[in-house]
Amino acid sequence: MNLLVLGRGKTGSLVADVARERGHQVHVLCAADNPEASGLTPEKLAGVDVVVDFTTPKAALENIAACVLAGKNVVVGTTGWYGELPRIRQMVEKSSTGFLYAANFSIGVNLFFEVARTASAALRHQYFGQIFERHHVHKKDAPSGTALALQRVVQEASGTELEVTSFREGDVVGMHELVFDSPGDTIYLCHDAKSRRGFAEGAVRAAEWLAGKTGFFDFKDVWREL
Ligand SMILES: NC(=O)c1ccc[n+]([C@@H]2O[C@H](COP(=O)([O-])OP(=O)(O)OC[C@H]3O[C@@H](n4cnc5c(N)ncnc54)[C@H](OP(=O)(O)O)[C@@H]3O)[C@@H](O)[C@H]2O)c1
Repeated sequence: MNLLVLGRGKTGSLVADVARERGHQVHVLCAADNPEASGLTPEKLAGVDVVVDFTTPKAALENIAACVLAGKNVVVGTTGWYGELPRIRQMVEKSSTGFLYAANFSIGVNLFFEVARTASAALRHQYFGQIFERHHVHKKDAPSGTALALQRVVQEASGTELEVTSFREGDVVGMHELVFDSPGDTIYLCHDAKSRRGFAEGAVRAAEWLAGKTGFFDFKDVWREL
């Protein structure tokens, strides 16, 4: 495939490496190449199979709009823009493009969501639940997109919205804890990312899955098919 990666930051550069290792042709645009999505005209996107975005919330919204307008399939890893999800979904469904997003492209985190869904039964048995998330000090959004996704998983399974507490410290890649506490015992569930490699591999495999498809997809619904 011809992949266009948007963002040459911590995750975007790893996505480009993994995509090249998997045999794809990769082109990368950084912020200077693409102010207000100016690098994403239909002419410049000709020949691109899938665009992968790991930028900033503001840039991601501009990039998504430009790609959808040009009829290009997009995988979005950037978080912090989900208040606009209904509008983006409408935009994608009106076009004939493919769109796939995830707060977290790691297979491990998506398995963790499954465990969380099952463990949410605790809330029907007098447990008190809490979510804690830790990330590096440069992270722009809080709570993390993954913590909000975890909160949604628990809410869908139990009807209870858990409080999320965020910590920003050092160079923590991403740690998410789900804790259920009762008078008799405490259940600790924790996912701790050791590197960004898992995100990058998941995003590239998601792009491979999305190529040639149309529709609006959430990675948590499709990762089992990869
Ligand atoms: N879904 C997942 O699995 C997952 C995993 C990790 C991270 N993330 C999310 O991905 C996003 C990026 O994270 P990161 O850690 O890689 O951040 P980062 O290191 O700060 O990288 C962001 C990059 O985006 C570039 N950028 C900004 N505007 C752009 C534009 N219009 N076109 C092209 N590039 C542009 C920036 O370029 P300059 O340096 O030139 O400003 C920067 O290099 C965040 O929202 C983060 O939460 C998601």
